[in-house]
Amino acid sequence: MRRWPLDLRAAHWLLALCVIATATMAIVLVYPPEWSDPYIQRYVAGIEYHKALGLVAFIAALALALQHHRRPPHTGSALEQRAARIAHLALIVLALATPAVGFAANAFWGEGIALPGLPPLVSPVSRNERIGAVLTYAHDAGAYAFLALIALHVLAALRRQLLRRDPVITDMLGVKSKDARR
Ligand code: HEM
Ligand code: HEM
Repeated sequence: MRRWPLDLRAAHWLLALCVIATATMAIVLVYPPEWSDPYIQRYVAGIEYHKALGLVAFIAALALALQHHRRPPHTGSALEQRAARIAHLALIVLALATPAVGFAANAFWGEGIALPGLPPLVSPVSRNERIGAVLTYAHDAGAYAFLALIALHVLAALRRQLLRRDPVITDMLGVKSKDARR
């Protein structure tokens, strides 16, 4: 079994959880059945949790990027290893860029982050709607590219684990698999 350091595994699963939760939340909030008062209020309250979870995802991605050199060696053919390296690099870049651009877009709209019971985080820049609109577009496009790559990443991991009997997922979970590695 390949041993992933515990902090790397924790950062990976925290990142995965936050990204899936925050993206689901945003899509539910941004596309209500109708823009009536209750849904507007739900958006206003909920989007703050989307932003906060997005920032936690950013911190987890930063930890993973900074500690990446401690990961165990890749497995599979030379081609698979190369593909995994490129895909992981793209995942890390998007995991950092999506929340960073979301934060910047929000800041240029003059917004901060306000969660009940916590001191508000105010926008560090003055409002500029043109920059805000461009960055919002970049945030949304980046987020959907990120989600598409995550879907491929999960399919590739499942293929390795279930069809190739290469226990990459159980290694990342830190549990022993029945499949011995050759
Ligand atoms: C949902 C958001 C997710 C993101 C952003 C993400 C991102 C990443 C990144 C950046 C790495 C490379 C880490 C490194 O080399 O230091 C990685 C590795 C890995 N991920 Fe994910 N991941 C996600 C979800 C998942 C899920 C749901 C699974 C399980 C089905 C999974 C399984 C794996 C495995 C097995 C590896 C190690 C692959 C190897 O040994 O090379 N990931 N992930
Ligand atoms: C991993 C982190 C993040 C992901 C995956 C993500 C994903 C998304 C998605 C899928 C949407 C819906 C886009 C649409 O169809 O209109 C969205 C909207 C939004 N996000 Fe994020 N987001 C992240 C982080 C952040 C952060 C850190 C902030 C701000 C601090 C933020 C602010 C917003 C705002 C204000 C909206 C609603 C306006 C819009 O459509 O862009 N996001 N996000």
